[in-house]
Formats: sequence, C-alpha cells, structure tokens
Amino acid sequence: MFVPSEVTRYIESLIRDREPALKEMELYAKEHGVPIMELVGIETMLHLLRLLKPKAILEIGTAIGYSAIRMAKELPHAKIVTIERDRSRYEIALENIKKVNLEKQITVIYGDALEVEAEVQEYGPYDCLFIDAAKGQYRRFFEIYSSHLSANGVVFSDNVLFKGFVANDNVDNKRHQTMVNKIKAYNEWLMTHPDFDTMILTVGDGIAISSKR
Ligand SMILES: C[S@@+](CC[C@H](N)C(=O)[O-])C[C@H]1O[C@@H](n2cnc3c(N)ncnc32)[C@H](O)[C@@H]1O
Repeated sequence: MFVPSEVTRYIESLIRDREPALKEMELYAKEHGVPIMELVGIETMLHLLRLLKPKAILEIGTAIGYSAIRMAKELPHAKIVTIERDRSRYEIALENIKKVNLEKQITVIYGDALEVEAEVQEYGPYDCLFIDAAKGQYRRFFEIYSSHLSANGVVFSDNVLFKGFVANDNVDNKRHQTMVNKIKAYNEWLMTHPDFDTMILTVGDGIAISSKR
C-alpha cells in the first residue's frame, strides 16, 4: 500500500467508534470478502460530504449498503440513490437498510448501472456522484451520470490508486496489469477533462475528487 500500514492503523485508532449495526456490517464484509470502502477513505469522503452538504447523492456500487448507510446517517437531509447489479448483495443491502430504518432515505436500484439510467434520472438531479463499482467501466459511469449532476456537482471515484499498483511499472499479475491499465487510462482521462477539475487523494485505496469547472 502507498501509505505505511502503521500510519493507517494509527489514524484508524483515532477515528470515533461506529455504532454496533455498522460494526456488524464491517465484520460481515471482512468475513465474506465484500469489498466495502476502507475506513480512512470513507471517513475522508464523509468529512467532505459534511462540508458540501449535498441534498441528493447517487452511488454506483451498493454492495451490502455500508457506504450508503454511512452517507445517509451523516447527512440526514440528503436522499441517497444507489445501484447494485448483484442480486444477493442487493437483497442484503435492503435488509441492512431496513434494520437501521433508512428505507425512506435510501433507494436501492437493482441492475447494471450501464442500463438503468432512465430509472436513476427520475430521482435526480444529484449534487454528488460516488463511483465505486467495476473499475474497468469508470469512464462510462462518469460519462453517463455526470450529465445528471446539479450545477455545482462533485464526483468521487474510489480505488483510483488500486493499492498503489498504478505507480508500479512491473505488476507481476496479468489480471492486475489489465486493471491497472484501465485505471490509469481513467485517471489520465479524468485529470484532463475539460469540464472538471480533479485531484487524487492518497487515502483509502485512492479517491479522485472532481468538481465542475
Ligand atoms: C466496491 S463494492 C461497493 C462498496 C460500497 N460502495 C461500500 O463501500 O459499502 C462494488 C459493488 O459494485 C457492484 N457493481 C460492479 N459493477 C456494477 C455495475 N456495472 N452496475 C451496478 N453495480 C455494479 C458490485 O457487484 C459490487 O457489489
């Protein structure tokens, strides 16, 4: 990783403890190999969201609902729309959202984000877009859904440093190398986008923050 693990652990030790329902979800994700956002990454994003005060957020990649629930709790006046294409994760997300009584605030759309634009549009426009799904499709997600952003819309893209592999010339795993190439292409495209200013933070797995120019 690009931040020494002892530094990450140190920061994590200072982060306020989460309520039992969230800790349970973190444990479930760890035990079942569900890739939820890393703690320092999500805390950083939540902090920025507190400053931005979005009224509507679109998330691509719900998994079991962890980040959607965290955003909803942090921003009680914001509505969250989130998309998940995996049936069993979608169902677990619905259960988790019900358990914490956030069904009114969070709408989960079941389907491939590349195919559900019409449904997503019904709940828009969105002040923030959070991309945290199939890494090879980030550019398509951005192209489709940035058009549903409000005037001062902000886009968060997670995993843009892919454990630091993007800065490594010799990735010794072919699958990783393909992924690295895709992420690097996305980062280069994003950083030179004529309509957005972007900066990459070395927190979590790397988060790109893009704001409309
Ligand atoms: C990294 S996980 C999301 C984690 C979640 N945001 C969190 O931090 O709690 C990515 C999820 O995106 C879903 N996904 C990947 N590609 C997708 C697509 N094209 N449309 C909808 N969901 C997708 C995967 O099934 C997976 O559950």
